[in-house]
Amino acid sequence: MRNRILDTSTLDKELLKQLDAFIDSLEGDKQEHLIHVLHKAQDLFSYLPQNLQLYIARKLDLSGARVNGVVTFYSYFNEKPVGKYIISVCMGTACFVKGADKVLERVLELTGTSKNEMSSDGLFTVKDVRCIGACGLAPVMTVNDKVYGKVKPKDVDDIIRHYRSIQYESK
Ligand code: FES
Repeated sequence: MRNRILDTSTLDKELLKQLDAFIDSLEGDKQEHLIHVLHKAQDLFSYLPQNLQLYIARKLDLSGARVNGVVTFYSYFNEKPVGKYIISVCMGTACFVKGADKVLERVLELTGTSKNEMSSDGLFTVKDVRCIGACGLAPVMTVNDKVYGKVKPKDVDDIIRHYRSIQYESK
């Protein structure tokens, strides 16, 4: 990946400048700030396409594979465009034994999408994630920063309807 040609023509130049300024402002060993830089990049661009990952790798003098390894390890990072609402269904052990797989199935059915893909209306991206540390509320799902606990498959209908109606009202 290190020898790949870097094509940044699809990346917004103004946002790249902001990212450069952020990286330049970091003190100490810049390589140790990789996760910090990825967070900033995702805040700016909303997701981390391959050419942006490679750009960051070059800026920090890291291999593209190393950057991609971190991006794919953390479910927080998105390699593809994401919907307005990111739905994360916890598939950790406590949630799984309480039926998280059925919750996930219902979410995918109602949003009409597949895992990690954006729904065709641009509203939802659905992810399955590892334990989010709220096991007492299992099974747990989140929509952006909002946490829903003890979710049953039938509750998903109301939750999705809620986010669809917000969208409708804001038009
Ligand atoms: S296993 Fe789901 S919150 Fe811990």
